[in-house]
Order: sequence, then structure tokens, then C-alpha cells
Amino acid sequence: MKYDFTTLMDRRGKDAIAVDLYDPKDVKHGLDVIPMWVADMNFPTLPDISEAMIERAKHPAFGYFQPRPEYYEHIINWHQERYGTEGLKKEDILYANGVLGGVVSALNVLCQAGDNVLLQSPTYIGFTGSLENNGWNIVLNPMVEDENGVMRIDYEDMEKKIVDNKIHAAVFCSPHNPTGRVWERWEIEKAMEIYAKHDVYVVSDEIWADLIMPGHKHIPTQSVSEDARNRVIAMYAPSKTFNLAGLIGSYQIVYNSYLRDRIEKQASLSHYNSMNVLSMYACIAAYTPNGMQWVDELCSVLNDNITYACNFIKEHFEGVKVHQPEGTYMLFLDCTEWCEKHHVDIETLQNMGKEVGVIWQDGRPFHGPCHIRMNLASPHSRVVEAFNRLDTYVFNAK
Ligand SMILES: Cc1ncc(COP(=O)(O)O)c(C=O)c1O
Repeated sequence: MKYDFTTLMDRRGKDAIAVDLYDPKDVKHGLDVIPMWVADMNFPTLPDISEAMIERAKHPAFGYFQPRPEYYEHIINWHQERYGTEGLKKEDILYANGVLGGVVSALNVLCQAGDNVLLQSPTYIGFTGSLENNGWNIVLNPMVEDENGVMRIDYEDMEKKIVDNKIHAAVFCSPHNPTGRVWERWEIEKAMEIYAKHDVYVVSDEIWADLIMPGHKHIPTQSVSEDARNRVIAMYAPSKTFNLAGLIGSYQIVYNSYLRDRIEKQASLSHYNSMNVLSMYACIAAYTPNGMQWVDELCSVLNDNITYACNFIKEHFEGVKVHQPEGTYMLFLDCTEWCEKHHVDIETLQNMGKEVGVIWQDGRPFHGPCHIRMNLASPHSRVVEAFNRLDTYVFNAK
């Protein structure tokens, strides 16, 4: 490997909620904290990104600016090389501070207060909070397991909910957080046909588009048909891919000029939605051939962690169910049977992990009633250590 995915990076005191929210003194047996919750990574980013920002920072003026042509060129090239997108132009790309903020901005254009919005569940925690905060009602379309144990969209339920609730806006998460599904083309096509039939506009959150495991491929929602191209507002960012969430800087792709103008207007109202010059340099440096190699290596490291963790769970944690993620670096553990058998509630189970330094995340705000979400974006040795602790002190404690 060209890049470093094995060094244990000490993030304490370096502006990381992943570790700073937890006091090592709360961890028993002299163990340390292993951050396995918020969706950022315990890997150093692509070195070119830091270098590009340092180089720019050597020039001592940071005044008002316009995005450089390379910003758009590198995004267009990234989408062509990584997802096969053709015909993307500079004017189709809109800047947004964050992906969640971009989702909200887009929904503000599509919805009135009190409107119903369709989401597949389980859902990303940020959708739950932001949609409710903004006064929209979330209508859940629960995913279902097929005969091969793959979590799929329940299309019948989806269509019924759209009709019954007069829904005209939906959020689609692709790849899907927290299940890690990388939707197949036919699944997206089928969903988009139903959305088109009932005139539902779609905000497609594709922040996880680059973190795809071998054997799977990210299909941009806008690419499945001409109708989808015009019906969908897509959200992307280099932040999840390259561990840059603290830098701020995302973008929307909107081909439909009516929607694009409305969204741009909406986003401009607060005067807060503007690019940071260093984050622009970060994005330019990320979306390069070196960035592609870095992401390929990252995905192979993540795949090893995912495979290791899922096998370990199957072999050692009776009563814990998991679907092996096809993308992202998240596991969504269904602990229902384990909790029932051991007469332990989900909160107690989570605390048992935290007490031995495994800082995992409550699955309930993701609409998983007895679930835990676990972040595997750490050097392999840390994942092995975490699973050994869960074995010894939590799931098989004597
Ligand atoms: C599906 C999804 N959308 C959005 C976000 C947050 O993106 P941002 O920090 O750019 O708002 C996350 C973060 O985990 C996510 O998983």
C-alpha cells in the first residue's frame, strides 16, 4: 500500500468529538477509548490535501474569492471517472456548506411546513433530527429482508404511503446509512418509476458514494433515466470520503434549471452558505488520481474490517444479527435476540461496551429499536481489539 492506514493516530486534543466527548477515566480495566460512533475516520487523510492547504496558507491574504476553475473541473472529472457520469457541467454544481444543510435547503424548496416526506428506514440520525426540527413529518418506508437476507425497499409499502399521505418529496440515501446497502441499478430504477408516477421530487444523499466494497458499484440516482436526471437533487461531498467533515464543503448536483434556481435562492437567504478557501483547495487536491488511489486503498482496508467484524459476530455473538455492509463503514447491529435472552435492555448493553472503551452508538434515533451502530473506520488492529473486548466483557462475559 502506498498510503498509511495502520498508524494509530492520537486525536485527543485535536478537535475531534469522536474522542473528546469521552473521558478515559470512565473506562474500566485500564483500557483506552476506541471511537466507534460518529461518522468520521481514525485514518490520516490523503497527504496531498494537507499539503495543498498549507501551500495556500503561505500566501498571507484570505479575502473574498470565487471558486477556481479547477474546483469544478476536478468535481466533473471525479464524477466521470468514479461513477461514469457524462455531461455534468459547471452550472449544474451548486455549493453547499454541508450535506445535511443541503438536504434541508432542497426540502425548503419542495415542501411547505407540515408536509410529509418519505424516507426508507432505518434512517440516518441527521435526517430524523433536521426534518422534524424544520416542521416536516417523516413518513417511514421500512426496508425488508428478502429471501437471501438482503435488505431491500418495500415498493408496495412505499407507493401506498406516497398515495395515502399525498407525498411529493422524498429523501433517498445512496449508499444507505446505516444498513450499508449499495442499491443496484434496478432498485433505483424501480423507486424512481414510483416517484415519477406520483410526482415526487427526490433529494438523493450520496455522501457515501465513494466508500463501496468490492463487487458493488455506486449508481448515481440521476443516471437511471432522463426523468430521474430532472427530478432529483443530488448531494455529494469529499468530506466522508477523505475525512474532511471539520473543513466544511459539500455540493449539490441539479440538472433541472427551475429547481436549481429555486435552491440557489433558498440557500442564499441566510448569507451563510459560502465556500471556505482552504476547503476549496482540499477538494481540488482530493479529487485527483492520487485521491483515487487513496480511496481504493481505503476501501480495501474497510472491506477487511467489515469482513472480520461480520465473521466475528456470526461466530461469537449468538443473538446479534448483522447484514454485511456493501458500502460505508458502518455496522448496524440488531441486538434484539441477545437482549431478550440475557434480560438486558439496549441502553444497558450499550453502556457495557462503553465501560470497556468501545464507544459505539445508540441505534434508536436511526429507527432501530434494539440496535447499535458501529463505525469500523479505524486501523485493523483497533477493530480486532474492540471485538475482543466485546467478546470478553460484553456478549460472552462470564
Ligand atoms: C447520509 C448522511 N448524510 C449527511 C451526513 C452529514 O453530512 P454533513 O456533515 O456534510 O452535513 C452524514 C454524516 O454521517 C450522512 O451519513
